[in-house]
Amino acid sequence: MILLADERAIERAASALRRGELVAFPTETVYGLGARADDDDAVERIYAAKGRPAENPTIVHASSADEAFELAAEPSDLVLALGAAFWPGPLTLVVPAELARVSAIARAGGETVGLRVPAHPVARALLERAGLPIAAPSANRSTAISPTTAEHVKKSLGASILILDGGPTGFGIESTIVDVAGPIPVVLRRGSISIEALRRVVPSIVDRSEIVVAPGQPSRAPGAMAKHYAPSVPLLLVSASEMGSVESAGTKGFVIRAGTRVPADSMACETLPEDPEGYAQGLYAALHRLEDAGVDAIVVAAPPTEDRWSAILDRLTRASAR
Ligand code: TXA
Ligand code: MG
Repeated sequence: MILLADERAIERAASALRRGELVAFPTETVYGLGARADDDDAVERIYAAKGRPAENPTIVHASSADEAFELAAEPSDLVLALGAAFWPGPLTLVVPAELARVSAIARAGGETVGLRVPAHPVARALLERAGLPIAAPSANRSTAISPTTAEHVKKSLGASILILDGGPTGFGIESTIVDVAGPIPVVLRRGSISIEALRRVVPSIVDRSEIVVAPGQPSRAPGAMAKHYAPSVPLLLVSASEMGSVESAGTKGFVIRAGTRVPADSMACETLPEDPEGYAQGLYAALHRLEDAGVDAIVVAAPPTEDRWSAILDRLTRASAR
């Protein structure tokens, strides 16, 4: 059920969370599927609804940096500095967990937890009203495209889930994840916050996010599994120069940047803005629309290789893995 995220709906959703039920809600990156983070049974429901493997841990959201720090076992100076600089915002920090406060299911049985303080006003109001940290992965079936609208959540998870509608999300791709549990801070997933911005606060950050792990291999960031963020039909990533020569069966959909030429026989075409921020904001919705249009393959004109595009290129590369 989709509810416009007004005060009454947020209050209703907060009580549902306190009772251990699931609630989908907007964040500034993508919609999350939340459950109280201190309750194994509640968190278990997220895994069942998503079809998520138990070995993939879930990010825990807090209403303030101070609340987040309380979920960490003795937060290091690094954690405090990164939290102070980027929270609330699209940064997730993997830290040693305060084990008694975070369900072992959300930790996938490990001793670390991914912490994030979202900036979206609906997420913040919900966390404050619930008065609890909330475990929330993206609100989609496991490996599918993340939702950037309430309708996307309904399409992926069904109408029985309580969904707070806060409109389309602002950033459009998931948070940047930094592992600060070990001696060297490591970027596990690129995202809305650039590595450059992180290095202004912690110059020693190492980027391991380009390491794509084949299915079945162990991984430090289960999100690094090759196939992830993928539409239900094959996605082909092609260079701008190959675009003209793409063989089309007449039923393909295309995703291009403004100014790129599309083969004339494409069935559907989604044109995204030329800047990385606008492109990221619109990307998942474009993929969802092409899926809904019934195309049998999606061809994406590869974006530039510049650093500003690296999080987008990461998602497109994973989306194209089969
Ligand atoms: O923007 C976001 O991060 C969104 C919103 C809802 O907050 N959430 C999100 O969650 O993208 P999810 O579950 O789709 O992706 C979280 C990623 C997964 O790849 C997971 O493996 C990784 O974070 N992760 C979570 N906890 C971790 C931990 N303790 N250690 C290593 N990786 C962790
Ligand atoms: Mg996800």
